[in-house]
Amino acid sequence: MNENIKAFPKDFYWGGATAANQIEGAWNEDGKGPNLADAMVAGNHTTPRKITLDIDENRYYYPSHVAIDYYHRYKEDIALMAEMGLKMYRMSISWARIFPNGSDNEPNEAGLRFYDDVFAELKKYDIEPLVTIYHNEMPLNLVNETNGWVDRKVIDHYVRFARTVMERYKDTVRYWIPFNEINDLTTPVGNWNHGGIKNPGTEDFSNQKDDPDKRFAALHNQFVASAKTVIEGKKINPDFRFGTMICHITVYPLTPNPDDILATQKEDQLRNRFSGDVQIKGVYPYYMDGYFEKNNIHFKTEPEDFELLKEGVCDFYSFSYYMTNCITVKKDVEEVSGNIMGGAKNPFLKATEWNWQIDPVGLRYTLNHIYDRYNVPVMITENGIGARDTFENGEIHDDYRISYFRDHIEQMRLAIDDGVDLIGYTPWTAIDVISCSTGEMAKRYGFIYVDADDEGNGSYDRYKKDSFYWYKRVIETNGECLE
Ligand code: BG6
Repeated sequence: MNENIKAFPKDFYWGGATAANQIEGAWNEDGKGPNLADAMVAGNHTTPRKITLDIDENRYYYPSHVAIDYYHRYKEDIALMAEMGLKMYRMSISWARIFPNGSDNEPNEAGLRFYDDVFAELKKYDIEPLVTIYHNEMPLNLVNETNGWVDRKVIDHYVRFARTVMERYKDTVRYWIPFNEINDLTTPVGNWNHGGIKNPGTEDFSNQKDDPDKRFAALHNQFVASAKTVIEGKKINPDFRFGTMICHITVYPLTPNPDDILATQKEDQLRNRFSGDVQIKGVYPYYMDGYFEKNNIHFKTEPEDFELLKEGVCDFYSFSYYMTNCITVKKDVEEVSGNIMGGAKNPFLKATEWNWQIDPVGLRYTLNHIYDRYNVPVMITENGIGARDTFENGEIHDDYRISYFRDHIEQMRLAIDDGVDLIGYTPWTAIDVISCSTGEMAKRYGFIYVDADDEGNGSYDRYKKDSFYWYKRVIETNGECLE
């Protein structure tokens, strides 16, 4: 890259990310209770995952029950991450490992000890943890007892869980993300995540009945829970730093038709800006009043909620970035899929096998867009390519992954040169995990290969992919060498 372009900052957090339900397994060991993810059966690109509130292992395969068996192999995995040179590791804490029913009086000591051990291991290698407190992991008991996040009682249960872990790990963890992809609830897809699902065996990603009143109530409650967590956390340790985590679906107008431009702006406000505005600016933005009114959406709030939102704002903006989509008012255009939502196909972009469009330049655009709006430090906490890898004689030649990362990292550096205060990058994923949307192992993201298939067969041994060695070199040279 041109020498006149600013370098990555010296203390840049080169990292990797995962989530508890997609790696740990040990779903019912050492006192852990089942969570919502444990009730999700495997699906694939064409068959959506089903949620069965009565877990029936004789009938279904539930990928999270063993996942990649990280619970028993975390030492080996963290050693590999250290060998790769990671400076930061984004992970989540499984709520039901700490409070098996979500509403228990006392936390589960064995669960707390597990994360003590994980953090000790990270410290050994000088890897900074970045902890997501909620990553689709609501204890199943709360799903059954309440109407999920629609129920305000859940706020208190969650805040107790958050306080417990923040107190326990106050000397080892500094960076926290209260909610993963909080803006999922702006789309009907987010419904499964709020846990208000009451028809065992019949619900899946595609056939849930959408109730926008409930969906936005659930989102509001998550905003309040996030703000309370920030307020409580700063009392526990004023050095804590809290981040948003927005699933940023960057949208472009398909054509210069002003109607497409306006539709794109509306989409961007609803999907991307709304949640960032609440969590960073501490206010509900004006455009949501109009949206709620036009769509006849009503949900209950309390006056003190808005004081909390103002006080409990996040310190940095983090987001996931996988693809961009186009928006148009035209009907019958070719569509692509995506993370939480698809859109119209962009004729200038290629897509993955799962039909997510690849757009590195869009990352520079997005970084500028975000920093311009919020003016706080920015972190990319998920970015990566889900692809089928070929495993041959212990080797995985994943040049497609290397080129995806190379192109995105180049654009990150250009954004830094533009002046964006980008402080970290934790690509998805440090190691192969089970896919969230499909439950497959075949949709792999990691730098480290896990020998397991979609039915849970395999040795579960770990192997370094070509991208492992490539990323190691990137980190060693602080992003100078991308070859
Ligand atoms: C993000 C989630 O939405 O996208 C992750 O935070 C998820 O949990 C990732 O795994 C990639 O999506 P998928 O469906 O390909 O696993």
